[in-house]
Formats: sequence, C-alpha cells, structure tokens
Amino acid sequence: MSPSSGPAPTATLSLHPSFVVGPVRRETFGSFVEHMGRCVYGGIYEPDHPAADGDGFRTDVLDLVRGMGVSSVRYPGGNFVSGHRWEDGVGPREQRPRRLDLAWHSVETNAFGLDEFARWCAKAGVEPMMALNLGTRGVAEAVELLEYANVPSGTARSELRRSHGADAPHAIRTWCLGNELDGPWQTGHKTAHEYGRLAAETAAAMRAVDAGLRLVACGSSGRGMPTFGAWEDTVLDLAYDHVDMVSAHAYYQQHGDDLGSHLASATDMDAFVEEVVATADAVRARRKADKRIDVSFDEWNVWDQERWEADGPPSTWQEAPRLIEDVYDVADAVVVGNLLISLLRHTDRVASASQAQLVNVIAPIRAESGGAAWRQTTYHPFAQAAALARGAVLRGELACPTYETARHGDAPLVDAVATWDEEAGRLAVMAVNRSQQGGCLLEVDLRAFGPLRLASATVLADDDVRAVNTEQDPDRVVPRRHDGASVADGRLSVRMPAVSWNTVVLEVQRG
Ligand code: AHR
Repeated sequence: MSPSSGPAPTATLSLHPSFVVGPVRRETFGSFVEHMGRCVYGGIYEPDHPAADGDGFRTDVLDLVRGMGVSSVRYPGGNFVSGHRWEDGVGPREQRPRRLDLAWHSVETNAFGLDEFARWCAKAGVEPMMALNLGTRGVAEAVELLEYANVPSGTARSELRRSHGADAPHAIRTWCLGNELDGPWQTGHKTAHEYGRLAAETAAAMRAVDAGLRLVACGSSGRGMPTFGAWEDTVLDLAYDHVDMVSAHAYYQQHGDDLGSHLASATDMDAFVEEVVATADAVRARRKADKRIDVSFDEWNVWDQERWEADGPPSTWQEAPRLIEDVYDVADAVVVGNLLISLLRHTDRVASASQAQLVNVIAPIRAESGGAAWRQTTYHPFAQAAALARGAVLRGELACPTYETARHGDAPLVDAVATWDEEAGRLAVMAVNRSQQGGCLLEVDLRAFGPLRLASATVLADDDVRAVNTEQDPDRVVPRRHDGASVADGRLSVRMPAVSWNTVVLEVQRG
C-alpha cells in the first residue's frame, strides 16, 4: 500500500445469524499472574499500600481487574512454576521459607501462595487456573497439591488446608500439566517423549482423585520452536486419553521499524491455532478416537522480547525486581484487539485463553508501589471484547485489499469478528484497520438480521500511534465515541481511521 488521496480502501463483511463458529466462551478472557517481577508483590498484593484490604490485596488493582472482565487467572507461572514448591507458600507466613527463583533470578519470599491466590480470585470474581511443577517435580507432588486444594476434608492435606483457615476447598477445575517444557530455558526441560509420559501419568493420577478436572498438556512455547508440530504429535500420542487441551504460547512485538508486520501479528496466531488443531486432529485420526483435543492459548500478548534478551535477568538476587514492565502504545492496543479477534474466530477449538500477564509484567494494568494503578492502552480492547462478545461467534465472510509485510506475507488491511446474542437481539462487531496509510471503510451486510439500529460505536486510535497512558496521564488513550459508523438499508458502514480498533453494537428494532 502506498499513501493515496483516492477513495478509502473498502472491506466487506457478510454476516448471517445461522452461520456460526461456536458459542462465545467466557474462558477466552482469561489472564495470568506469575510470581515474576512485580506482578504479585507490588501488583496484586501489597499489604503496606494505602488501598490494601485486610488480606493485603490492592483494592485499586482489584477494581481494574473486575472492570476488565477477566474470566480466569492462570497461576503461579510460567517459568517460575518449574522450580516452585507449593508447600512453601501455605501456612503461617512467618514460617514460610525464602527461596531462590531460578527462572527470574529473584528471591521468592512466599508471602503470597495458594490460599491467598484462591482468596484473591474470589474477590476478583475470577476462576483460578493452576499450573503444576512438572519441571523439577512429578506425579506425587501434583496429587498432593490437588488433595490440598480440592479435597473437602478428612485427609492429611485437606485438613492441613483447613488448619490454615481455608475451610472450603478451592475447587480448582483447570490444571496445566507443567509449563513450556519444550523450552531449553525451562528448569527441568524435557524431550517430548519424557514429557508426554509424565503428563499422561500425572493426569491419570489426578483423574483418579477427580475425573471432572480439565487438564492441559504443554504444547509448544512458540510456533517458531524447532520442535513445533513434532512436539504436539508425540505428547498427544502419549497423553491423548488423559488430557482435554494442549497449550499454545505466543508473544508478538514490533521488530525495528516494521510496524506493518507487527499490525498483522494476528495472522500468525490464526496459523498457529490452525496448525495445532490439525496436529491434534491427525493424532485423533491415527488413534481412531472420538474425543477431540482443544487448544488452551494460555500465554499470549505483545512483549518486546528483543529488549528483554538484550537486558537479561537481574545480576543480583532481589525480591520482586522490576521486570519487563513494557509500556504499550496505540499500535500495541490494535494488535491486542486483533489477537482477541483471532481467538474469538477460533472459538470452536480454542477452549481457553490467558493473556500474559495481568499486572505490571507485560500487563494491561500498571501499579506503582505505594502509588497509583492505571490502565495501559491494551486494557481497553480486552475490556471491550470481554464485555461485548456474547452469544455465538459468527462465521463472517470478509473481503478486503491486502498489504505486503516482511514477516507475514500479504496481510488483509482489515480484520473483524462479530458475535450475535439472539436472545438479546444484539450484534457486536469488532474490527481493526491495520493500514498506516489512512482510513478504511468497513461495510457489513446485515440484511439477514432484519432491521437493526445502531446502539453504540467506539474507536481507539490516535494521530500518534506511539501515544501511551502513564501514571500522570492515564487516559491519554481510551476508546472514544465513533462518529464514523452508520446503518442504512441493512448495511453498516464504519469509517475506520488508520491503525484503529473499532467496536459497534447493533440491536434489533422491536415493536
Ligand atoms: O510470561 C513470561 C514468560 O513467558 C513465562 O514465564 C513463560 O512461560 C514464557 O516464556
């Protein structure tokens, strides 16, 4: 695409209420809290903060988490979990050991652990999702943790939990069988065969305690991993009967001045999901299995990993050092919105997703120790998608011009998804314009829905795509009322400015 003074490029989207991908799943809007940097300490937990409640949880952060519409939170890692002993984080705080966290070269005080996490989840209104240490530990410790967390009473570990003040079980339904064990950086890194056997044995033992758990096997920690595909194939071959989902992790960033590729990151996520699904389905066919394995996209976000790799981990052992507190701009918010479009589009096979992470560490929420908490630019598309996506995700037919990218080939200028809540008679359209050259017109054919009226429309864009939100100026970038959306003759027209995230809600005209 080159700058042009001619008419804006036009994208057309055809929708029909009967053409459905699958139901909108609340699990798409999960997040992730790792014992890393200032995500836990100085993020969700800061007993000395003026806004801390009786549990030491920051209520200003809790308010922002609730406002974001987060459905579940994965915990306690990430790479951290592969060296973690869950027992260190329960019981009287003054007796909890200080440990070296090898993953992030930090000191872990264990002041916050499983029982605090469960209490925090209840206050935040989110479902806990627990990751197990299958790096340095194994079947026995996983079952012990499950007993502590979920058995109501009458056994050694359930009574231990009760003696710690948690009378009711935590009822954790979804468990990740380790984290990124395909990665050479992972403490306890394994081959696919070693891991597949361990995942199968751990899952079988856990199911003996509770057959109704949702279990996630580790897939690849990136689509670019040399073992991608082969890893999933071997792991699922060994663990197929025991697990429900296989994980995928992806982080995107702008490389150098190549904003065009960054804006097309969701094309990579689309391909990643489809390749994992194809691999899982190939294993299914080979095994002649009825059961289908879905995808848990349990780490995804924008993360400037080049900067992290250049800086490296801290050279001294510190408690909760500042780590990867990336500041997100308008373009990053558009990419995050587009990644959510991709996850929604694959709602038939992406059964769970977790944005990584929630507070301070590559996060939509920032919080200063002793200071304010505020929303980064990327908070807004997440909160809007979580609030607007209802009912069913529609299988739309999108046609639009493409532009050339260095990393993702020819990419469509526009991407969009729509959800249809039949009961409420409400259609939500979320769309991004990836063009840096200027506006794009999105025309949506709505004739199959009968008369719809425009209920609301917003746009997140800025003349400066590098604009960010800061503690001093926390609302510099927010979604604003759209003055470029209109409906006439069964057609929605949205004039989308360059590099923008757009939402439109339409309602059935009744009476
Ligand atoms: O989210 C940061 C890190 O990224 C996680 O600990 C790890 O699983 C991934 O590599």
